[in-house]
Amino acid sequence: MSVQQAAARAAALRREIEQHNHAYYVLDAPTIPDAEYDRLFRELQDIEAAHPQLLSMDSPTQRVGGKPLPEFAPVRHVVPMLSIRTETDTEPSGARAFDARVRRELGLGETDAVVDYAAELKFDGLAVNLRYEHGVLVQAATRGDGETGEDVTQNIRTVRRIPLRLTGEAPPVLEVRGEVFMSRPDFERYNAKQRALGRPTLVNPRNGAAGSLRQLDPAMTAERPLSFYAYGLGEARGRDLPPTHDGVLDALAAFGLPVCEHRAVVQGADGLIAFHARMRAMRDTLPFDIDGVVYKVNSLALQQRLGFVTREPRWAVAHKYPAEEALTTVEAIGVQVGRTGAITPVARLAPVFVGGVTVTNATLHNEGEVRRKDVRIGDTVIVRRAGDVIPEVVAVVLDRRPMKDLVEPAYGPWELLKEYPDCPICHSAIEKPEDEAIARCTGGLFCPAQRKQALLHFAGRRALDIEGLGDKLVEQLVDAAIVNTPADLYKLGLLKLAALERMAEKSAANILAALEKSKHTTLARFIFALGIRNVGETTAKNLARHFGKLDALMAADVDGLQQVPDVGPVVAASIARFFAEPHNIEVIEQLRAAGVHWPEDEPAAAVNSPIAGKTFVLTGALPTLTRDAAKDMIEALGGKVAGSVSKKTDYVVAGSDAGSKLDKAQALGVTILDESQFRELLKT
Ligand code: IVH
Repeated sequence: MSVQQAAARAAALRREIEQHNHAYYVLDAPTIPDAEYDRLFRELQDIEAAHPQLLSMDSPTQRVGGKPLPEFAPVRHVVPMLSIRTETDTEPSGARAFDARVRRELGLGETDAVVDYAAELKFDGLAVNLRYEHGVLVQAATRGDGETGEDVTQNIRTVRRIPLRLTGEAPPVLEVRGEVFMSRPDFERYNAKQRALGRPTLVNPRNGAAGSLRQLDPAMTAERPLSFYAYGLGEARGRDLPPTHDGVLDALAAFGLPVCEHRAVVQGADGLIAFHARMRAMRDTLPFDIDGVVYKVNSLALQQRLGFVTREPRWAVAHKYPAEEALTTVEAIGVQVGRTGAITPVARLAPVFVGGVTVTNATLHNEGEVRRKDVRIGDTVIVRRAGDVIPEVVAVVLDRRPMKDLVEPAYGPWELLKEYPDCPICHSAIEKPEDEAIARCTGGLFCPAQRKQALLHFAGRRALDIEGLGDKLVEQLVDAAIVNTPADLYKLGLLKLAALERMAEKSAANILAALEKSKHTTLARFIFALGIRNVGETTAKNLARHFGKLDALMAADVDGLQQVPDVGPVVAASIARFFAEPHNIEVIEQLRAAGVHWPEDEPAAAVNSPIAGKTFVLTGALPTLTRDAAKDMIEALGGKVAGSVSKKTDYVVAGSDAGSKLDKAQALGVTILDESQFRELLKT
């Protein structure tokens, strides 16, 4: 690139970045995903690094972020609020590079001791500084440009997790730094409420947090559920604090501040890498978004020695995870017919790499969502894929809708019944009750799409668990009219299976073996496998426990069904309707005749079991049991499995690599069992 070209590109990037900054920080209406923004920012940084003469004071790279809104009083930070360097290499090498840099700066040789790091999560919200004087919250400010932020004290006071008064022996002046964010469940609940009221929804939790804190009317902030975690200090005077970062966080927790439990002190690069991997595995089970982890040199004395480069400390780094959101374009809008006939609009996308895989389809949930988001063919959209969750279209980037389409739309708002007057698979009528969001194909098991889904559900891991019976095979079996109901599966023979295209004799034999194995099941799995509308795994377990026998369940009336825990009128009606259908009874009888069976009276024992009503938490990898197997064993004996450790936990079953749950169990004095002790307990 010539200098002229570089100058032109830098100017264009600056303009674009400033526009996004404004949309993001001032309007709280982001126009592109963070990863895309980061890419533009990096490109500009690289150009400026290669051509220092192009660097200008007004470049967006020369400030940390957003300017204070005129409406909020400016607050000058006593200790500047810095940012941290981001390691964009999401692989272990990213952690090694940081450790190597720290060691070099500290003058450590290969034979010197490993460095201790405090490792924690990188929360995805908004940084704030909370100032406590004599234990009382006197001021809260956003980061602003790092030197001067905005006074958001009134809004911060509405965040319930932030104490207005500290407990214990806090220093007379204590500034606490941390992140204000919105949890995923709170975000979903808030949006559901807004939707019901016909009001605008939030694009993502991070935006929700930023927008909430910038509400000029604190009553509005109070309506939006915000959370907070402390991760550091600003000014602290009048009393000594511990000499390590992790000690400081313990002290903050002791003062009554929320500190995230998912943190650890680890040794050297290997420790960092293990932490990065452990948190990544947990990422999607957390109730809030993280986009990486943060490593900090644990010793405050070493932090001082390392100091800063420009506005970033040398002793800390953010180590990212692959982005869960990306930009792509919509090539078409199709529909999918689910197990219960639900018709789901699906965006067919130009392939895009997001959340670790290439995505070509993303759910649009229902017709209402397509209209609300106003997704049209040709649009550029933000796609999100978190963990194993089905990819979804988050929002349209209206800026990128072709100009002529804005003036004279090439495609109008999408209408389900216009595009699909009847079920695209079986051509039965589509029904959409006025008060429901979901349209359904009325074809029932006549509809091949519903039949396929019903079979896949029946064969699923948590149902009859028929290994090897996946999408492709079910597709073939139904399309060839070899299998219509679950009972037909057990009529399959080697010849028929092996005759299918791309089916080796060996795999056909494996499937027959899996079918044979699946015949030994439990009543709860069998009930779940039937795919009764509104009967999930938990309800199926409750039904099995309550009735003990399938015939008793089949004979129950609506009143009898409502005696079961968690079964209300809607669920009871679905169950009664299912068993009133002669076709369903026939399939059940055929399944029994084929030899599908379960131990009689299994659940009655639960009441007398030693663990009935006890709460367990599972953590780490057990030597022989999978997590699902351990959970099944506990539940079969009337115990419960919870996700996090609290005072109410009776037992923690810990395997190798158990993390903070184990620490917490120790702190709370909860009984900890290894796998053999656990098995022993279940036997008594
Ligand atoms: S420490 C001097 N720790 O990431 C170090 N920051 O650029 C100051 N963040 O805006 C930051 N989680 O809002 C730190 N555990 C964590 C964090 C964290 C999220 C945010 C913070 C800041 C940005 C760093």
